[in-house]
Amino acid sequence: MVQYCCMQKNTQTMDKIISLCKQRGFIYPGSEIYGGLANSWDYGPLGVELKNNIKQRWWKRFVQDRDDMVGLDAALIMNPRVWAASGHLSNFSDPLVECKKCHMRFREDDDGIAAVASTLPRNDRSESVIASEAKPARSWPPFGRQSRNQKHCPQCGGELTQPKQFNLMFKTFIGPAEESADVVYLRPEIAQAMFVNFANVLRTTRKRLPFGIASQGKAFRNEITPGNFIFRTREFDLMEFEYFIDEKDWKKWFEYWQKEMKDWITKDLGLNPKKVHEVEVPKEDRAHYSKRTIDFEYEYPFGQKELYGLAYRADFDLKNHMKISGQDLQYTDTESGEKFVPHVIEPTFGADRSVLAAMVEAYHEEEVDGETRAVLKLPKWLAPIKVAILPLSKKDELAKAARPIYDELRQYFVCEYDETQSIGKRYRRQDEIGTPYCVTVDFESLDDKMVTVRERDSMKQERVGIKELHNYLVDKLV
Ligand code: GAP
Repeated sequence: MVQYCCMQKNTQTMDKIISLCKQRGFIYPGSEIYGGLANSWDYGPLGVELKNNIKQRWWKRFVQDRDDMVGLDAALIMNPRVWAASGHLSNFSDPLVECKKCHMRFREDDDGIAAVASTLPRNDRSESVIASEAKPARSWPPFGRQSRNQKHCPQCGGELTQPKQFNLMFKTFIGPAEESADVVYLRPEIAQAMFVNFANVLRTTRKRLPFGIASQGKAFRNEITPGNFIFRTREFDLMEFEYFIDEKDWKKWFEYWQKEMKDWITKDLGLNPKKVHEVEVPKEDRAHYSKRTIDFEYEYPFGQKELYGLAYRADFDLKNHMKISGQDLQYTDTESGEKFVPHVIEPTFGADRSVLAAMVEAYHEEEVDGETRAVLKLPKWLAPIKVAILPLSKKDELAKAARPIYDELRQYFVCEYDETQSIGKRYRRQDEIGTPYCVTVDFESLDDKMVTVRERDSMKQERVGIKELHNYLVDKLV
């Protein structure tokens, strides 16, 4: 008998998800054999499949299936003048205060003071401590926040210095001489490459407005307070497009992309619409380039926080790049011959936050015959492994029947072959990693040429002919 217990998505749940991720190979603590590096995480064999599934589906939906979108994969390190034009050099910062007594540094935040997360090895600290040590708060937008000028250190009560602006861009050097002339930055957002290549793309694709340039890749921010597992890290994957429009149409396109984003979140990623909130960001909290911003927030176990953002960047970036580079980045209307700088709507999707929200939404615990089963009820397209082939025992004759099934199915789906441990334990393992279908080959299969297919969520089992198995699974999975 299956009894569904109402899971409380709280910090305990977060600990369980972090532990599952580590035990099953989704996500490991970064540099673990050296004691780790706080808030850095490595995607393991299953995690990389899951994140790739998100990136590929996003790319298909928003780029390949549309006539008005093209892709770009740009260099991570750009000419530093890019960051002068974008405003990041002068403004991409958080207020930092230091305790005059213990010299701990903190980020001064809207609702108090947030402690700086340690970058030292984590050694004996528990996952929950690591997850909660840094108070997550937004570092972006950098403008408009009012300092509260807290006077005392939350650690020792010592007096705090006045806030200093701390630029969040990672600096490095081109070439062997570490001189200021050779300073470059790891990109803090992926958007700028799409602005910088606007004229190239326009010329080579001959697209007309409205059209978009899409990109995926890493961004780097020297966050003062990273934390909450992969929610806020110093390097993270973004999926984003700049959608170029005529200024007069901006409201229409903003609403259009708002609906598209919601659709992706609830229908593709499978998040519960009740846990997704569209929050209008007030002017004083918006990034300097934005004339309107909506944040999509999700109810994570650690609170309602940002998942994605949608911004109307107007002509801020193209205009500034024109000014600083001296290049003409205008668009010419083919009918009227009018020249103008296009405006931009920018939907941004954090890939790591997509992974986190999908895992949180999918994680369930159920009581089955007096035992608790943990199951990841991921949408089938998102599951890292689609089919597990499980010979009932390690006996040679079963392997001889099961291997060819595995060899055939893996041509179409990501499959796993597993013959160790009891079948019950193997089912539990596949449930925990979210595998939608398990195919069991038993001794009867040798005579009747049929296998047992078990479905993850209902745990229902069905006998299916080996010859029909491929079509059966295509119907269910594709
Ligand atoms: N080009 C606009 C831009 O980058 P943003 O609001 O700074 O906008 C966009 O960031 C998205 O990037 C956020 O909605 C979130 O999904 C993700 N993100 C931002 N900072 C992050 C961090 N430190 N760790 C993980 N994801 C982050």
